[in-house]
Amino acid sequence: MPDLSKLPPNFTWGVATAAYQIEGAVGVDGRSPSIWDTWSRVPGNVDNGDTGDEACDHYHRWPEDVALMRRLGVDAYRFSVAWPRVMPDGTGRVNPAGLAFYDRLVDALLAAEIRPLVTLYHWDLPQALQDRGGWPDRATAEAFADYASVVAGALGDRVTDWVTVNEPLCVSWIGHLDGRMAPGEQDLTRAVATSHHTLLAHGLGMAAIRAAAARPASVGIVLNPSPCEPGSDRPEDVAAAVRADGHVNRWWLDPLYGRGYPTDMLEVYGVEPPVRPGDLECIAAPTDFLGLNYYFRQVIVDDPDGPVPHARQIPVPGSVQTAMGWEAYPTGLEELLVSVTERYAPSRILVTESGSAWPDTFTPEGGIEDKERTAYLEEHVQAVAAAAARGVPVDGYFYWSLLDNFEWAYGYDKRFGLIHVDYATQRRTMKASGLRYAEIIRDHQRLGGRPGSTTESSSAVG
Ligand code: IFM
Repeated sequence: MPDLSKLPPNFTWGVATAAYQIEGAVGVDGRSPSIWDTWSRVPGNVDNGDTGDEACDHYHRWPEDVALMRRLGVDAYRFSVAWPRVMPDGTGRVNPAGLAFYDRLVDALLAAEIRPLVTLYHWDLPQALQDRGGWPDRATAEAFADYASVVAGALGDRVTDWVTVNEPLCVSWIGHLDGRMAPGEQDLTRAVATSHHTLLAHGLGMAAIRAAAARPASVGIVLNPSPCEPGSDRPEDVAAAVRADGHVNRWWLDPLYGRGYPTDMLEVYGVEPPVRPGDLECIAAPTDFLGLNYYFRQVIVDDPDGPVPHARQIPVPGSVQTAMGWEAYPTGLEELLVSVTERYAPSRILVTESGSAWPDTFTPEGGIEDKERTAYLEEHVQAVAAAAARGVPVDGYFYWSLLDNFEWAYGYDKRFGLIHVDYATQRRTMKASGLRYAEIIRDHQRLGGRPGSTTESSSAVG
């Protein structure tokens, strides 16, 4: 049982999703193709040949999904806006029908007393921009600022909480170095350029949001760091763990907190990011919060012949693994929150994603008793409470994910939802973990003197 008394009374309980993973309706109301439409159509790129064409059909079923959130009793909902719905060519022309979808959603959320936390980029780059160079090209970061300004201008009279870019690490290292995600490139120079331009997009986008939103905006970026530990005491493994930490953690956090790119990693990559005068100041402009997504730790050994950073993650014998093959390691979340706070002193942290996939099955009664997900949830909430008790300024937790959804290269087989989706019928079924989350939220709200009913929830994100 998590000790909820350690969490601040105004703690925000939320759930998270992303546009391409749930919306479907890819050809509806003027949306143009994104890099994920293109990528998922290439045989072999996504398990079972799955695509986001229909996904959870959230584009049409959002009223039901808002009602489900209300049942959970969440304070906030983190979702992303699809750039190709709003600006189908990536720049210039705005598509009013695309914006209208998010307009309706925001109104419905506010009417349900659920605070929107809007992510502007969760990996669905308009294909039109990819065709003009994509993230390795600086113009994409500049285009992002224009797009951010359009969305903040349209929704910023009601939305106050914004995320610029989700997990630039995945965009850069998985999308442009490993080639396991769209656009599927394997080029270190272009990956390093992407890392710089996604961070620059954050900085430019943050300024654009603040300028365009009618209400004072609270803006942050979402990273996905991992604690990195050496797999042995061998000096080679210890050094490899330092490189892994540089690759997944410091490369992102150092420039965001005004330290520039880590010099040891510049040497490891042997490639300079295309920094222009003023870029590092723009990237390091103070945020209102730091969003952290946590899924696993990394136990590392030296891998001199492997790809940069010449460090390989090894499995931990005897560990519990989720359906993704990721170690369930809640202590890592506490460690991460503490170490990020000690190293960078962010003023405020939100856990913007935490969750797990398991092979869910229906009981004869038609329910889903997902004991592993429920235990994972409780243990990770406890880890956040433990970090808060150690002085970490963490005041929100967003479960990934509200619904089972399109898990990128893994397609629909990997189910992260608190709510099961039958993709043949689009029927939604609350899992036992969803009911448990509602209970945790209610218990915590009662501790803080809030009404604590699953139909009465209201709280600012912070
Ligand atoms: O589904 C993803 C999400 O889009 C980004 N963070 C990790 C999740 C689980 O892999």
